[in-house]
Formats: sequence, structure tokens, C-alpha cells
Amino acid sequence: MKKIFVVVLGLISTGIVWGQEIDVVPAPVEVKYTGGVANVENELGVVIGSRAFTQAVKKLDPAIKEEAYRLTLTDKGYRIEAMTEIGVIRAKSTLSQLGEGTPACVIFDYPRFTYRGFMLDISRHFRTKDFIIKQIEALATLKINVLHLHLTDAAGWRIQIDRYPRLTSQAAWRVGETWQEWCDRGYRYSTEGAPDAYGGYLTKDDVREILAAADKYAITVIPEIEMPGHSQEVVRAYPEVGCYPTSDDLCPGKEATFEFLEGVLDEIIDLFPSHYIHIGGDEAGKADWHNCPDCQARMKAEGLSSVEELQSYLVRRIETYLRSRGRDLIGWDEILEGGLSPNATVMSWRGTQGGIDAMKEGHDAIMTPGGFCYFDKAQDAPVFEPKAIGGCLPFGRVASYDPEAGIPEECKPYLKGLQANLWHEYIPEPYHTEYMTYPRIAALAETGWSPAGEKKALRERAIKWADSLRDGSLTGKTFKVFDLRAERGQRPESLVPAEHLARGKKVIYTTPWHPSYVAGAELALTDGRRGDWSFADGAWQGFLSDVDVTVDLGSVMPVHYAGATFLSEPGPWIFLPRKVTILLSEDGVAFREAAVIDKEVSGEPDGFVTYGSVLSGQARYVRIKADRYKEWLFVDEIIVN
Ligand code: ACM
Ligand code: ZN
Repeated sequence: MKKIFVVVLGLISTGIVWGQEIDVVPAPVEVKYTGGVANVENELGVVIGSRAFTQAVKKLDPAIKEEAYRLTLTDKGYRIEAMTEIGVIRAKSTLSQLGEGTPACVIFDYPRFTYRGFMLDISRHFRTKDFIIKQIEALATLKINVLHLHLTDAAGWRIQIDRYPRLTSQAAWRVGETWQEWCDRGYRYSTEGAPDAYGGYLTKDDVREILAAADKYAITVIPEIEMPGHSQEVVRAYPEVGCYPTSDDLCPGKEATFEFLEGVLDEIIDLFPSHYIHIGGDEAGKADWHNCPDCQARMKAEGLSSVEELQSYLVRRIETYLRSRGRDLIGWDEILEGGLSPNATVMSWRGTQGGIDAMKEGHDAIMTPGGFCYFDKAQDAPVFEPKAIGGCLPFGRVASYDPEAGIPEECKPYLKGLQANLWHEYIPEPYHTEYMTYPRIAALAETGWSPAGEKKALRERAIKWADSLRDGSLTGKTFKVFDLRAERGQRPESLVPAEHLARGKKVIYTTPWHPSYVAGAELALTDGRRGDWSFADGAWQGFLSDVDVTVDLGSVMPVHYAGATFLSEPGPWIFLPRKVTILLSEDGVAFREAAVIDKEVSGEPDGFVTYGSVLSGQARYVRIKADRYKEWLFVDEIIVN
């Protein structure tokens, strides 16, 4: 009794709560509590390469060793041990999250993966040097170590290239601020200083400042120069590098294209110290390559049998050029098509298969699968969130991603890490960039750094981290941050199976579902499964046509209600139907119209809308016909009572 009393008094006098642990994201590998409260302000010393620490990390992979550190926190102050300056910087990231009342402890820490990236697309909507540096400061607290800058795309070229001035005087400026406006106004470009010009670019001095800020936190900035697709802006400014002046892709048949690309890359290499240069490679339409005389001549001369091989020819030549200048190439997983160039690293975005295929061939891979790493999706119920590209990627789903899951053992040595991608089509404002990034990136950072496994209390730690980011106490600057405390979580209807007369009954499809959104196939609309917020969750069935489906109840029975719920998400072109007709039949041949529900569809987000009606009479067959407004219709369940 007496003993317990003494312990309690002791805790009160030191000011800490019994059992308190440090709250750091990403969670360190090992924390040993030594009793008492630490002084986190007073630096007692920094030691690089001590014999004791060298011994402590001797079993770690050399690249991981570089970032390892030991942070000893006592009542007198803190001491850092590391093998390199980078390790010291990582220790200071941990320290940045520790405040008053931190329990005294010894933290021994090192990363799970050597590549923990964040991609910022500054083409679709330009972001300034100061904004980028602000994000570097925030990302550094999470030990993110790569900032991948998507610098060029059809929507705007964003980097000064002295040899090709029209890239910044013309290709960096478009007509129309938002994605929709640019589309509505015909995807036109403008010129610097023109009244209708929207855009901007980083000067070389801007880049030098960004690089200096990144260097301070041991963050590598990887530049991406897109080729040969996503290049309309280049072809409009320098038509000689397209098959035709109207082409969307660069022309791999023309030598002028290689002269241009090498000229651009020369300046990129001179500016960026990154060993890796990202060359894009995704989503090239290649349409003009089939009839362009130069492309056809190239294919003949090089013995190439497809346009995929022609793209591969371009990527290989560029890789050879980069290697001649001491650099290596990264590309999106399309660079596998037509044959991968010898030393390329693949960024796997269309799921993980591209990465696996590359690793099987002995190439390094970085995982960025869309279903877990695409931060352009809303992070909560899309119907309540700002307009986004479509779909939903909540914090918990980001946290659930394990890059090693499903990866064959022999591939794992080539798995370098993971990256979040923030595409900016629907992110016009800088504050919105921050809102889409934080705190989701904390979940990705935890996966990248902390040992595989539990992610104990990650949500609580991320909330605390996000609060300090939001209020300016973490980096000295305030941020717009999504509030995880207010997250709605899953759509309530999706959590409880729907019970009704049609449950488990056969559905006859007069119009087929779309193969990309099959959901539960012929049972999807009567399986009791209601959809979650995301149209791609496997419960929503998609139609790229009107919908005409009939439920067979098995026998004639009284029917009092029938209806179906449709999804509205204009970002990915999913709209409500403008009309739903409910028909009943006893024999499946003669149908009588039982209800017609008309709706004014605006194209604005409307969430989930049930088109249903109270009915009277008997039926065996309940038919639902939905007339499209335009593009997609998504239905989760037909309810009959
Ligand atoms: C990509 O999302 N097109 C790489
Ligand atoms: Zn061509």
C-alpha cells in the first residue's frame, strides 16, 4: 500500500502521466524508456560514426544505415548518434515532434525502405517556390526523403530551359484557370503577360532555392520531364518535335525530337543533383505514330513491329543519354511495354503488377498503386468533399497498404519503397494542395519508415502531428489540414446488409454492366451489399449506357415498394439518371408501368439518390429502366418490398 502511494507521488512530482509514451510519426523502430522527463531543448552532443553506434548498426543494409540514428533523451538534454549527417537530420525530425513532458528514453531508429516519396504535380496547377519549400519543411518532419516534381504536362511547362525559351514564354501559360475552364475553352495556350494567361514556371534560381531547402532535410528532389505523351504544350511551342503540329505526343521518328530532349535534359542534369531523372512515359496515345512518315521510317529502320516498341526505342535512347551523363532513369510502368530499357527503375501506378514484372527482370521498383497512393482522390465521403478526380482514399486505406504484400520473395531486394502522388487537375488553390496531402501522407510515411506491422495508435499520433502542423507549432507556418477527427468513415448503409424481397433473386440484364465495374456480376443488384463512398469499391455496378434490368422474384407476390439507389460524382463523370421507370409483370412478357420518377439533373454533385416508389398490386418481375443524363450510371442495389 505504502509503495503504491510513493509511486503515484513520484509521477505527480515529475509531471508525467503513468504509462505515457512518445507520439512520433513515423513510429521509431525501438524506444526504451529510462524514467523521468526529458529536456528536449538542450543539445548535449552529436556524434557521427562512433564505435558504439557503428557496432549497433553493423547488420543493417548500407543504404539504411545512412539514415539510422540513436537519440538519447535525458533530463539534462539530448544526444544524437548516427553514421552520417543524414542520420542526424532524421533524428532531428523525431525531435521536432517532441515537446514538454516527453518521457526520458533512448530511441534507436532506421527506415524500412530507402525511398519514401511524395509527388507534386505543378503542371496542372502551378505552385510557387515558396509554397514548395513550405511543403518540404512539413514532409521532412515525417522523414519523407523524396520530392518528385511533375514539372511538365499538357497543362503547362513549369521549368526554365534557356535553350528553349518558348517552353516558358508560351507553354507555361494556358487559357482557363480550372481544368474545366481550360477544357471548355478548347485546351488553348497563351503567352506570358497576356491578359488571359494562367500559369507560371520555376526559374533556375527558384529551383536552386528549392534544392537548398530540400538538402537541409536530406530530401532528394527528382525532376520529371514527361515524354513522349502528355506533351501537347511542347508540340504547340516547338511543332518540329511532333509528328504533326497538332500532335499530342512527341515524334520518336524525328531526330529533332532527340536533339530537343537531350538539350532539355542537359539543363535539368546541370540543375538537379538527383541521381534519378524521371521521364514520365505514361499514357502516350501514340495515335499519330501509325501514319507519321518519320515514325514509320524509324520503325522500319530499327526493325520495330509496334508503336509500343517505338516508345521503347525512345526510352532506351534517352536512358543511354542519361547514363552517358552519369544519371539513371525512372519511368511510369508503361515503359515496360515494348521492352524495358536496361537500367530503368519502374514506378508502378496501375496497380502493382508493373512493379512486380520489372523486379522479376531485376529492375528496381517504386510502388505507387492508384488504389492506395493516389492522393487526388477525396479522403472522405466525396459527396461532402471538394470536387476531386473521383473515388475515395481515406487515411485508413493509405495506412493499410503494405508494399511487400503479394510481392514474390525473389523480388523484394528490388523493392525500393513507395510514393504518394498528388495530381492536380482538380486542385486549383494552394490551400487545397495541403488539404489533400495532410494528414494522409503521415500514414504513407509510417509505412515507408516504420517496421512492417501493427501501426499502433497511428490515427491518434497523426491527429496530434496534424494539429501541430495546422497551428504552426511544428514548422512555424500554418497549414490547411483535413480534420481526421471529423472523418465520416464508411457510408453507413454499406455496413449493414440490406434485407428485402429481392435479396438473392436473379436479375435479367437487358443492358450489360460495364466490364470495368462488374461488382458482384449478376448478383450485384440483389446481393444486399450497399456501396461505400467510392464508385470503385466493388459494390457499385457501373453502366456506360441506360440501365434496363429485371428482378425475377421467383413467384407472383404482392409488391408494395421498388427502388434503386444511384450515385452522383461528376468528377469521374458519374451522374444520376434523368428518369427512372418501374414496371411490373406477372409473366415477364407483359409489363405495366407502375411508377415514373423524373429528375432535373444538373451535373453538380448530388450524392446518393434513391429513385423509388410505393406500389400496389402483384408481380413476379420488377423491371427498372434508368435513362442516362450522360456518361456513367452507377447502381448498388434494387430494393423490393
Ligand atoms: C499516371 O497517373 N498517369 C502516372
Ligand atoms: Zn512521328
